[in-house]
Amino acid sequence: MTTSFYKLFTVLFISFFSFSSLVHSADIEAGKNKAEVCQGCHGIEGKSQSAFYPNLAGQRALYLENQLKAFQSGRRINPMMQSMAKNLSKQEIKNISAYFASITLEKDKKSPLVDIKGKNKITMCLGCHGSTARGMANFPRLAGQQSAYLKKQLLNFKNKTRKGGPMNSIASSLSEQDIDEIVTYLGSL
Ligand code: HEC
Ligand code: HEC
Repeated sequence: MTTSFYKLFTVLFISFFSFSSLVHSADIEAGKNKAEVCQGCHGIEGKSQSAFYPNLAGQRALYLENQLKAFQSGRRINPMMQSMAKNLSKQEIKNISAYFASITLEKDKKSPLVDIKGKNKITMCLGCHGSTARGMANFPRLAGQQSAYLKKQLLNFKNKTRKGGPMNSIASSLSEQDIDEIVTYLGSL
């Protein structure tokens, strides 16, 4: 009687802690299934075919998680993405982010438009965005991203409609011509 009581107690105790732990490690396969709905805009495997939808493939997992949470909380404003992110659980966000981060973003062909001026202007960006602009920790990858998307984000940071920590003052120091040259260069990487 006492032994079975302790057995039951142990089982309840263990299940309480396994169910109560908030977020488990990322499940890429589950993320892939949940990410099907994203491909309508972000392209197959998150490789965007449209200038206005960012690539998610090859993006930093931690950055994707932060952005999905920012759409949920309203810190980052975009009606389409706010409704897409609204019902995702913390675990789903982790899974989806790990899935997209696990995909290699290969550019089909290098743009012939590589802009040397833009190249010189991104030197100061690489300390945070990684030496090849492929991101680092929670700093997003910029290399190979859609140029029109990058331009829109830099203008949003500049006019403060997107809050981005250090990016607001960095973008406000860039002229529109700087931005055009920078995004052309980054998109070509
Ligand atoms: C109806 C089209 C649409 C669908 C479907 C969609 N998105 Fe988006 N997504 C967008 C747009 C547009 C943006 C750019 C928002 C902006 O300009 O700030 C975006 C941006 C993002 C960003 C920010 C990327 C960055 O580089 O900062 C993430 C992360 C994201 N989407 C994840 C998802 C996920 C995950 C799904 C599926 C659950 C999804 N999206 C489904 C349209 C869509
Ligand atoms: C001090 C570190 C730092 C430096 C330097 C920096 N960035 Fe950023 N950047 C960030 C952070 C942090 C974010 C994510 C902001 C957020 O949470 O929305 C970001 C986001 C961005 C984004 C949005 C990416 C996306 O997918 O939506 C762009 C574009 C960008 N940076 C461009 C630049 C450019 C161009 C430069 C150089 C002129 C630069 N950054 C320099 C820290 C930095």
